[in-house]
Amino acid sequence: MAWIWKRKSVIATGLIVVVSLFVVVVNYSGKPYDLLQPVFGQSFSSHWMFYRQPPKAFKPHPGYLSIPKQEPLKLHCDVCSIVSSSGQMLGQQAGPEIDRSSCIWRMNNAPTQGFERDVGRRTTLRVVSHTSVPLLLQKPQYFFGQANDTVYVVWGPLRNMRKDGKGIVYNMLKQAAENYPQARIYVTTEERMNYCDTVFKKETGKDRIQSGSYLSTGWFTLILAMDMCKEIRIYGMINDTYCKTEGYRKVPYHYYEVGSRDECAEYLLHESAPYGGHRFITEKAVFAKWAKTHAIKFLNPEWQLS
Ligand SMILES: *[C@@H]1O[C@H](CO)[C@@H](O)[C@H](O)[C@H]1NC(C)=O
Ligand SMILES: *[C@@H]1O[C@H](CO)[C@@H](O)[C@H](O)[C@H]1NC(C)=O
Repeated sequence: MAWIWKRKSVIATGLIVVVSLFVVVVNYSGKPYDLLQPVFGQSFSSHWMFYRQPPKAFKPHPGYLSIPKQEPLKLHCDVCSIVSSSGQMLGQQAGPEIDRSSCIWRMNNAPTQGFERDVGRRTTLRVVSHTSVPLLLQKPQYFFGQANDTVYVVWGPLRNMRKDGKGIVYNMLKQAAENYPQARIYVTTEERMNYCDTVFKKETGKDRIQSGSYLSTGWFTLILAMDMCKEIRIYGMINDTYCKTEGYRKVPYHYYEVGSRDECAEYLLHESAPYGGHRFITEKAVFAKWAKTHAIKFLNPEWQLS
């Protein structure tokens, strides 16, 4: 009788080991979404691609440090809607759709007030150029008081961002953080700025400084978003061939500066500027490439990415 009992306990132990192993494998594969893949099929392929990448989101990011505490940036973003400042936003009524995403990113001082139907109401994060900081400081109570749940990520060259008292933009931000202690202001570290230049060189083969150009706020935004968001939806950004397309929609460069130079005229001017321009068109070609390996979608106008 004893051997029967023994065999039962061996089987029982075996079963427990097998079940535990299964649980461990499912939990530690870290990709429960793979299991859902056959059920949801093609339409979820972009999600599926994302989960194949190492999960970087949700970890504190050492490339962006808070003022004044110097703490790394922490964000919890699943779907990030990035709202471009382009006049393409006008008349698309994308506001309600944008407001439904977990995080909403805007650039510089792009307003929501008066444009809610087209650009939405909520703002989780703003990526701000050092040159736009004075524009925020024209309405400090609005940006840093009323909008104190918005995270501000400021990028700029060391000469303006240095912390030794000689960085004019850093000093302005430090003052703002003193006046509005609840404001959430971060600056891009020098290492991270250099990294963004390195990425430009790697993608275009051109040295950013030698080619006499500046990276755009869009460039810094996308590099940050690829680290912090599981899925990225970009609204109102045109692709690299848009301005060569017959009958393209002529819109203002910024949706909030109606009557200013049109978008394509501005893009062409910058692209050909021998010095001091943004290479918007070159950057867009790089973004299209990134969209092949990251969960990035471009809407209004939609990009056809193969
Ligand atoms: C933070 O923002 C909320 C919402 O706009 C506002 O009610 C509150 O007064 C703000 N706090 C400070 C200290 O400005
Ligand atoms: C770029 O935009 C133009 C104009 O909207 C469109 O015709 C073309 O298909 C787009 N190309 C890609 C690759 O999305």
